[in-house]
Amino acid sequence: MVQEKDWIKDLVVYQIYPRSFCDSNGDGIGDLPGISQKLDYLEELGINALWLSPVYRSPNADNGYDISGYREIMAEFGTMEDWERLRDGCHERGIRLIMDLVVNHSSDEHPWFVESRASKENGKNEYYIWRDPVMGKEPNNWASVFGGSAWEYEPRRGQYYFHYFGKKQPDLNWACRQLREEIFQMMDWWVEKGVDGFRVDAISYLDKPRDFPNSPLPPQPDGFAYPQGLAGRPGTHAYIREMNRRVFAPRNVLTVGEVSAPTVEELGNYVKTGRQEFDMAIPFVPPMVEIDTWSPGKLKRDIWERYRALKEEGWWANFFSNHDKPRQVSLYGDSGEYWEASAKLLAMFLHGLPGTPFVYQGEEIGMTNLGLPAIEDYNDPDTQNRYRQLVLSGMEPEAALARAQLESRDNARTPMQWDGSPKAGFTAGIPWLQVNPNTERINVEAQRQDRYSVYHCYQRLIALRKKSRALSRGDLAFLETGSEELIAWTRRAGEETLLFCFNFSRQGRRFPENLLKKAGEVLLSSYDREGGYGGANFRPYEAVVFRGKAGL
Ligand code: GLC
Ligand code: CA
Repeated sequence: MVQEKDWIKDLVVYQIYPRSFCDSNGDGIGDLPGISQKLDYLEELGINALWLSPVYRSPNADNGYDISGYREIMAEFGTMEDWERLRDGCHERGIRLIMDLVVNHSSDEHPWFVESRASKENGKNEYYIWRDPVMGKEPNNWASVFGGSAWEYEPRRGQYYFHYFGKKQPDLNWACRQLREEIFQMMDWWVEKGVDGFRVDAISYLDKPRDFPNSPLPPQPDGFAYPQGLAGRPGTHAYIREMNRRVFAPRNVLTVGEVSAPTVEELGNYVKTGRQEFDMAIPFVPPMVEIDTWSPGKLKRDIWERYRALKEEGWWANFFSNHDKPRQVSLYGDSGEYWEASAKLLAMFLHGLPGTPFVYQGEEIGMTNLGLPAIEDYNDPDTQNRYRQLVLSGMEPEAALARAQLESRDNARTPMQWDGSPKAGFTAGIPWLQVNPNTERINVEAQRQDRYSVYHCYQRLIALRKKSRALSRGDLAFLETGSEELIAWTRRAGEETLLFCFNFSRQGRRFPENLLKKAGEVLLSSYDREGGYGGANFRPYEAVVFRGKAGL
């Protein structure tokens, strides 16, 4: 049975990293009752879907992306009753609830793994990937994403287990039918409980080659090499389609895959309608790659390629930020002089595209990176590993620290800045990760009172999407501007046209006059505080949304 799934095209998704959102009981850790307390705020912002990063039982080796109980709630976050209250609170407000699903791996503390590692003869023997040593060593040279070998020795079995991420995150063996059945039943169970969708974590690596050949890629400084061709194997797509047939298709749930897909063809393999896999996909790009390679021109080319690839069948998930990336205003914009204009430009850019916008907590008030003073201050295992690799490769410790400060996933994980007090209104206790001192200036309370704030820019964009079919469903066309940093596009549906113009740079730049002749009423401007649109000479990070005149 195929369901009408047009509703997914009207979503604006807000991602919550529960640990850092709102702490209701003063233990310094955000929790589910804390999120429930802020639902009015989210409703006021206008979003209509909430994606919760994992809230299942977990020893937190990777902050919940290491699950030890798929049908339980992490004690620090509250109880199942708290989750049910949050679900009901969302549904009363017309907000869909999307859960993060981590099934490439579990925690090593999951009862399945505890049993699997105990001996070779047990009911969970095949739930994980076990291999004999090769010449007394790891079965192959593969590196784990979080550093070191992707294999860990278990003396009780005299074997190694495979972990593509941390060693407390053993990969589940999807080749085992019984394991797959357990996962599908668990997913069904959550759907029965009222979940409206899943964001499916690290889903490109389910299928592994049986023989685990050595990787021919150049090794990392610690001697291990990333596997070649592990992402997107045909077997992985077969497992996703099985998941779709078993769980998604019979139910009207939203599905978003977090995928490793370097080309649009590969992206299309996950989301083209005919493939029957996911509704949309979040392509994962390592922060270091993004930092080193992005430019406004590249953004534009990537958007156009993806637009063309999925226009006929498929849909887009649009995001600048999530819990794995540096803060967007620090990465793509300017956290100094042009902080406000650039934060608004990024908002208008993202919300102006065809597809579903994803807003990451704090983005809507322009939160910025926080460089911590020492490597020990970082919680993120990925940051620790990158630092170690850089030092091993010969980089000076200070330089390696500077790099880690720029890339660290902890930049996105500092507590949400609710008010200007030292603990940001996040907690009454000691926050688990340091609060950014700029909460004094950048916080929800101040921005709600200020009609020209970044927050209000987001609110207006979300409201505009609800009214404008050109924005929610219209076609996209880029207009020639003669410069990589001046970007202009139209969105059109029927008679309605919107024109988006951006000066994506720190310099004042002149927009081509002929292009602006078609610009009608100004709907939004990143310089609204200064009086709004002032003509063809665009200021640094100036962005304007116009209604298009007839004939545009
Ligand atoms: C995904 C998550 C990331 C996590 C990893 C392993 O990339 O977004 O936070 O560390 O998977 O689960
Ligand atoms: Ca708490």
